Amino acid sequence: MIVTVTLTPALDKTVVIPNFRTDEVNRIESLRLDPGGKGINVSKGLHALGMDSLATGILGGDTGRYIENSLRGLGIACDFAWTDHDTRTNLKVIDPVLHTNTDINEAGMPVGQDVLETVYRKIETAVRRDDIVVFAGKAPAGAADTIFAEWTERLNRKGVRVCLDADGGLLIEGAKAKPALIKPNDAELSRLTGRSFESIDEIAASARELTADGIETVAVSLGGDGALFVKGDTALRGRGLKVEVQSTVGAGDSMMAALAYGAASGMSFRDTCALAMAFSAAAVTTPGTQPAEMDYVNELLKQVILTEM
Ligand SMILES: Nc1ncnc2c1ncn2[C@@H]1O[C@H](COP(=O)(O)OP(=O)(O)OP(=O)(O)O)[C@@H](O)[C@H]1O
Ligand SMILES: [Mg+2]
Repeated sequence: MIVTVTLTPALDKTVVIPNFRTDEVNRIESLRLDPGGKGINVSKGLHALGMDSLATGILGGDTGRYIENSLRGLGIACDFAWTDHDTRTNLKVIDPVLHTNTDINEAGMPVGQDVLETVYRKIETAVRRDDIVVFAGKAPAGAADTIFAEWTERLNRKGVRVCLDADGGLLIEGAKAKPALIKPNDAELSRLTGRSFESIDEIAASARELTADGIETVAVSLGGDGALFVKGDTALRGRGLKVEVQSTVGAGDSMMAALAYGAASGMSFRDTCALAMAFSAAAVTTPGTQPAEMDYVNELLKQVILTEM
């Protein structure tokens, strides 16, 4: 079982407006609504890979109900904690003529300790030893930076494998609790280690230090340049795959979905890394955070080259 946790979901409203102008009335050409938020994206990725997951976290109001209904419609199981506040809606304005991409994001509402504890109880009830819990994204106002660290410690004691994809204080504190896997991008790894990197060797050295220190797997994603995966003594470098980029939003979430899939299905480390490369590269060829078709993922899989460092 894989449980994905999204404490700050959003309803992503993507509108296409050719020749978008400020100070004028703009006409929407097309509109789509997608459940968004990092853990939710991981659940969507797992679903595309053919694996069930349980999506939990915090939802509220009519937008929350819309998100839950869409996830259920996709066949993704949900068990969220509910608040009175409406889950935020994030507006994305895509202009195919002027080639602009404008995000207008609502601030999330603060949540109380009781709601957070309800989320944790839902996670704990759902998992058994060796199951996987993915913490992804930001924490709401009202939650401490140590929240994922505390939950990771509690889950580690139960033999549950935690995968963490966060930034800033959440990642710094979370890493101290030794999750089974972290997936920072290079900027996030910089903030975690307090170092700036000049070369892939320096990134690999930092990732190796983290694994030596008790985090089993460190996957560092490098956008179009590919990724670096370290587990035990093995460090694998995956060169960026050449794809037609539509939207890189959520590429990291697709990579996390593939990493969790590999861990849950007992795939070898090398095969898991190859899938993570192909699945994330395929995801950037689709609009927004939609996962790619598996036929295309399998085609890209043949092009993945992983070299030992
Ligand atoms: N332009 C690209 N071309 C090919 N592959 C890409 C590209 N951008 C991203 N990827 C793939 O997706 C993976 C994750 O991307 P990235 O490093 O941008 O994650 P991220 O910064 O965590 O993104 P996000 O948090 O927005 O999901 C990369 O390691 C790579 O495999
Ligand atoms: Mg990311």
